[in-house]
Amino acid sequence: MDVVYDLIVIGGGPGGYLAAERAGQAGLSVALFEKRALGGVCLNEGCIPSKALLNSAKIADYAKHGSKYGISCENVSINHKAVVKRKDKVVRTLVAGVAMKMKKNKVTVVSEEAVIQGRTAEGFVVKAKDNEYIAKRLVIATGSVPAMPPIPGLHEGYKNGFVLTNREILDITEVPEKLVIIGGGVIGLEMASYFNSVGSHVTVIEMLDHIAGPTDREISNILLNNYKKKGVDFRLSAKVTEITGNGVVFETAEGRQSVSANKVLVSIGRRPFTEGLGLEKIGVETERGRIKTDECMQTNIPGVYAVGDVNGVSMLAHTAYREAEVCINNILGKRDTMRYNAIPSVIYTNPEVGCVGETEELAKEKGIDVEIVKLPLTYSGRYVAENTELDGIVKVIVNKKYRTILGVHMIGSYASEIIYGAAMMIESEMRVEDIRQIVFPHPTVGEVIKEIMWEL
Ligand code: FAD
Ligand code: NAI
Repeated sequence: MDVVYDLIVIGGGPGGYLAAERAGQAGLSVALFEKRALGGVCLNEGCIPSKALLNSAKIADYAKHGSKYGISCENVSINHKAVVKRKDKVVRTLVAGVAMKMKKNKVTVVSEEAVIQGRTAEGFVVKAKDNEYIAKRLVIATGSVPAMPPIPGLHEGYKNGFVLTNREILDITEVPEKLVIIGGGVIGLEMASYFNSVGSHVTVIEMLDHIAGPTDREISNILLNNYKKKGVDFRLSAKVTEITGNGVVFETAEGRQSVSANKVLVSIGRRPFTEGLGLEKIGVETERGRIKTDECMQTNIPGVYAVGDVNGVSMLAHTAYREAEVCINNILGKRDTMRYNAIPSVIYTNPEVGCVGETEELAKEKGIDVEIVKLPLTYSGRYVAENTELDGIVKVIVNKKYRTILGVHMIGSYASEIIYGAAMMIESEMRVEDIRQIVFPHPTVGEVIKEIMWEL
């Protein structure tokens, strides 16, 4: 225990590796502990592998509809095994990139599980295998794991490979003929999109009366109808009661029903992961499993910070990145605070959904006096030129009194790339009149946002 690090980071996902990278860049001595693989859930079993699969499906979908674009593509088929192989290569490349960044910034990477032991006069003590490490400060970035509901048959099904989580489904090499997805949230919809494209019969069982959770309802309904047309079977307002050896039993207002499956994906949300970490040894407070922090990402213990999914606020990689920056800035003595009002969220289905800020429902619930304007994406020449399904819309929510932008919600091509522009508008409290003065490139789908400013 001879070295005292300036900082120990536990967890090598987006929150952890970015904290380590920024601290290393600033000249702090840093040790980063990762028990599985650098890049965490995002690079290994989340954001990146899912998008690699979805991109292959998107290319195939365009090819299947090639004739609508004047292109003849006969017998288009997806070689799922090859898609998974490519996905693995993408993951390897990006994980190696994180390792290089750690090296460049002189971060010591310890590929072991870290357990907090306590605190001495020198700092916080962390044990990994048989070695002890000590640091003046700690960043906890241990992420999250899938929530597993206490449904009869679920755990047995998981043990024998019939029930999968995001970790397993991204690696299966055979396309299930019938895939049942429990949970019509982000993971459920992205995986429904991919497996529908590769030929599975997909059924999504969702307990609410709508899909895509907090997404603007008009937009989630467009998405629902789009995927219904593509053949995905949605069972809404459904309570799963049992997972049998060959299917899922659930109840709706119509009574008890069942649907057969070759595989079942459970995607009903994720929970912060802190098991076995030893938080109690230094008195870090948790609340229903999540680590509580202040706006500087510090826990109740000075010098101990928590970033990313483990604090349970907004379980997105880009939130984890920003929280890591806020945390390291504060450690470096530069006060910085975390704001959550302009964090974009994207569902990488085809069409994509991109949202940021207040929804119509929430703004009204909060009693904010808002003006809401929406336009079809057919206002964009680019959108019409490039698409054959023309159901996309953009919806903008404006504070009536101050004419500032509160929310932007869209469904359609490039939504994932356009939405950060809207986040900037909200973050910098731009008014309708300010946006009218910006020149948007033509022809782009994003132009519709500017057009909306003239409707307000
Ligand atoms: P994680 O990425 O969970 O990393 C935590 C790391 O800590 C893990 O590698 C774990 O092994 C390690 N660890 C835990 N305990 C210890 C310990 N004691 N010692 C050492 N190491 C430890 N977000 C987006 O923004 N966009 C997307 O498109 C997107 N797609 C997703 C798709 C799927 C299928 C899933 C599951 C998630 C997706 N997410 C997406 C969410 C995103 O992956 C997470 O928000 C992000 O990974 C959180 O980063 P993190 O650093 O907090 O934790
Ligand atoms: P989610 O919270 O997005 O969706 C879970 C869904 O399951 C909800 O619609 C919920 O009503 C439903 N549900 C809960 N219990 C149920 C039950 N017993 N039966 C049926 N339905 C039930 O969670 P998901 O999809 O697991 O994703 C976890 C998190 O990962 C997301 O919240 C997001 O933070 C992140 N993620 C982000 C992505 C992105 O940014 N594109 C992609 C995938 C995941």
